[in-house]
Amino acid sequence: MTKHLLDALRGHPSARPPFWFMRQAGRYLPEYRALRQEAGGFLDLCFNPDRAAKVTLQPIRRFGMSGAILFSDILIIPMALGQSLRFAEGEGPVLGDLPETLDFAGAATLYAPVIETVRKVKAGLPDETTLLGFAGSPWTVATYMVEGGSSRDFARTKAFFYRDPDRFRWLIEGITTATIEYLSAQIEAGADAVQLFDSWAGALAPLDYERWVIEPNRQIVAALRARHPATPIIAFPKGSGILYKRFTEIVRPDGIGIDTQVPPHWAAEVLQPLACVQGNLDPLTLVAGGQAMLEAAEQICGHLGQGPFIFNLGHGIVPQTPPEHVAALCDFLRKL
Ligand code: CP3
Repeated sequence: MTKHLLDALRGHPSARPPFWFMRQAGRYLPEYRALRQEAGGFLDLCFNPDRAAKVTLQPIRRFGMSGAILFSDILIIPMALGQSLRFAEGEGPVLGDLPETLDFAGAATLYAPVIETVRKVKAGLPDETTLLGFAGSPWTVATYMVEGGSSRDFARTKAFFYRDPDRFRWLIEGITTATIEYLSAQIEAGADAVQLFDSWAGALAPLDYERWVIEPNRQIVAALRARHPATPIIAFPKGSGILYKRFTEIVRPDGIGIDTQVPPHWAAEVLQPLACVQGNLDPLTLVAGGQAMLEAAEQICGHLGQGPFIFNLGHGIVPQTPPEHVAALCDFLRKL
């Protein structure tokens, strides 16, 4: 059986696009909520390989996506480096003070259960399904480490790098080093491809974007490619706007994830000659479902289907999404 999603990442167009959805495992699925309840909490679920593997496979069993994304979180890296982390119900992530030094030696021990999850998923996955590992990109991870949680304006993180760029560079370089090791371990355990989530790339001015988005993503892609030349890498620098072009030219990922705002015809013309394009249905169309959702999906496929393309959303599935709408979208994509 061939893996269609991997074929697309290697530059091959196909009649029917391979597809998966960011946050395809999660609270919109009753079977996810049941397992999380059983585990105790979200982090307990992430660190339990049996349960995390089950959660990874839940959407595949139900909907048959072309790719399964490892069930984990981008905030495992701050935790592995020695920063405390908890998820407060209805509050999102809460991180402790930024550590003075980063615990590279201890990191691999902490993320070992996640690597075990990759092995377990690989063993239970249909042959035609691509297993995607992932990590957060250094800028996005650094915002959580500095802010202590989610933020709207990243005011503390920006104050940090404008006042003390050398110290911020130390942090970004530390996350970069840890991320290369973490993704290498995922690949060695069986991940067929990996995705870098730079969810807050769109918050930066061009010169800051160059330093804190382009450069660390470039280093991670170059290091992984040197170690694992056969493993494709998808980058998702959400919100990059016109800078998507420069990002793709310099970082050279195999796949480039586009957010909801990027015009698909622009992506087809400017990005697709450089990389496989992945995106970019508005996740809120899945809450509405019906014709609006299918028309939006069809338009995206019409613009991007002629070149290497992976159908996805412009950001993650939201918790209030009816699972039947996801099923209807998958049926539509399979019948194209
Ligand atoms: O299905 C999948 O996509 C795989 C698992 C996955 C999760 N988080 C599980 C999760 C992935 C790939 C992520 C990535 C992630 N985590 C990102 C980048 C993508 C993006 O959405 O921009 C970010 C910024 C995070 C950090 C994070 N994790 C936040 C801010 C939150 C709280 C907000 C929320 O949605 O609850 C999380 C929690 C989280 N990560 C949940 C899940 C399923 C919800 C936890 C729960 O069960 O309550």
